[in-house]
Amino acid sequence: MCKVIISALLITIFYSASGAITSNTFKPCKLPNRDCLDNLINILRPLIIGGIPEMEVESSDPMSVEEIVGDVSGFKYKLSNSTWIGYSNCVQTNMTVNEAITKIEYDVNCPSLILSGKYEMSGQIITLPVEGHGDYKIITGKYQLHIASDFMTTKDASGKSHLSLKSLKIKAVALTPTHFDFKNMFNGNQEKSDEFHKFMHENWKEISDSFDSPIFYTCIGKVANNTNRFFQNVPLEDFILL
Ligand SMILES: *[C@@H]1O[C@H](CO)[C@@H](O)[C@H](O)[C@H]1NC(C)=O
Ligand SMILES: *[C@@H]1O[C@H](CO)[C@@H](O)[C@H](O)[C@H]1NC(C)=O
Ligand SMILES: *[C@@H]1O[C@H](CO)[C@@H](O)[C@H](O)[C@H]1NC(C)=O
Repeated sequence: MCKVIISALLITIFYSASGAITSNTFKPCKLPNRDCLDNLINILRPLIIGGIPEMEVESSDPMSVEEIVGDVSGFKYKLSNSTWIGYSNCVQTNMTVNEAITKIEYDVNCPSLILSGKYEMSGQIITLPVEGHGDYKIITGKYQLHIASDFMTTKDASGKSHLSLKSLKIKAVALTPTHFDFKNMFNGNQEKSDEFHKFMHENWKEISDSFDSPIFYTCIGKVANNTNRFFQNVPLEDFILL
């Protein structure tokens, strides 16, 4: 009974998200058909990222991120009450799913991601001692993410399968420069702040690739949790021929 309502809801969501989408374009994929999977993702991704309140799937663009804590190679930072923007503009491709549907991997190419909110930092970045707290904004250039996730499948009361995420591995590579803006560095010492920003912009690639992983694990982790809630509501049989 419950499942019938949810399927009806899903169809409604597909119709309301775009008049062009019909239940016909949403045929379950037979593995390992990568084109079918990429097409499926193109349909599901905007729905999940946009948020589905009926399924407790929250918006992933913009996304509210309460706290990101990093402690990498002597550099400690905390980003609070942040907003993450831009994930809906990323393109997801190269999806592979193993036969047992326990491993799903894909690439995500993002033109730009923006994170802003409050920061605290201390320690040192590479060779530069840093200290500060205040407002911040990070505007990245192009990023390529490779995401590898482990899933398990559980059966619901009516015998239908549901995917559930067990773990996530993210490899993030910055491809073009990131712009950093941290207000009130060194208690407002402008000269040291300018020096800091110059260092950050000159070394954007090394800094991004060395210190960004707590940010991606938190933000992509939230996307993954939202995707999980979607999977809890919609049986796997709707996506993949079992
Ligand atoms: C983040 O927001 C919460 C709730 O609005 C507030 O209590 C907290 O002080 C904020 N944190 C920072 C660092 O501004
Ligand atoms: C797809 O995967 C291939 C092989 O791993 C890689 O070279 C390529 O960059 C990926 N494409 C995208 C758009 O990420
Ligand atoms: C995802 O959900 C799990 C389980 O509810 C929780 O422990 C974890 O903190 C969440 N991850 C993020 C990044 O919000």
